[in-house]
Amino acid sequence: MNIPLKSAAELDAMRVSCRMAAEVLAAVAAAVAPGVTTGELDLLARRLIEERKARPSFLGYRKYPAAMCISVNDEVIHGIPGRRVVQPGDVVSLDVGVLKDGFHGDCATTVMVGVTDPEVIRLVEVTRRALAAAVAAAAPGARLSDVSHAVQSIAEASGCSVVREFVGHGVGRHLHEDPQVPNYGKPGRGPLLRPGMTLAIEPMVNLGAGGVCVLDDGWTVVTKDGRPSAHFEHTVAVLGEGSEILTLA
Ligand code: CO
Repeated sequence: MNIPLKSAAELDAMRVSCRMAAEVLAAVAAAVAPGVTTGELDLLARRLIEERKARPSFLGYRKYPAAMCISVNDEVIHGIPGRRVVQPGDVVSLDVGVLKDGFHGDCATTVMVGVTDPEVIRLVEVTRRALAAAVAAAAPGARLSDVSHAVQSIAEASGCSVVREFVGHGVGRHLHEDPQVPNYGKPGRGPLLRPGMTLAIEPMVNLGAGGVCVLDDGWTVVTKDGRPSAHFEHTVAVLGEGSEILTLA
């Protein structure tokens, strides 16, 4: 495993790309409403990224055809934006990456559109809390699996399941760098976290069982049992004193 450590100057560059990603994500999240199509949301992201003289990290990555991943209800991640119309009661995961001056920022959030189902509300809040706990666990001296364990223990304590087939990742000059960051694991395993590491931590949590499959489009990941899923993601830097969330707007 080769985990790149970023210099102070590289971290500053990442702060810029990550803030941009967070700004784009916040603007798209604010635009989610009944009647909008996922394709329109993707177009908004493209325009905002272009305005910033930056590039969408996902577009063209392994031939991915859009700037964002937008995953609705039982879709977990990697939903391809298009003609789908957002409906009241939908739970919509939004994921965007921005490449600026050689560095990627990667973040995701899940928004509820007039959701009244208390189970779905609980799912989203649990996933948000799992990300916060994982970020707090990403301190120097901790081990990588402490981050993974934080996600799993919060999700499972609330009767939810983590997705095991997809993981978070290092991020920087490449969208995906070492190490992989699973959302489950025993604590105290894996590489030591050191100042200068930059991680995209991304809990994917299901209301039902953890199992997922990929649709025929080759991208869209859905729950096997058809129950809803939520996804949050921050790019985080491990620093001397703790971790810094880079993807804040
Ligand atoms: Co990511």
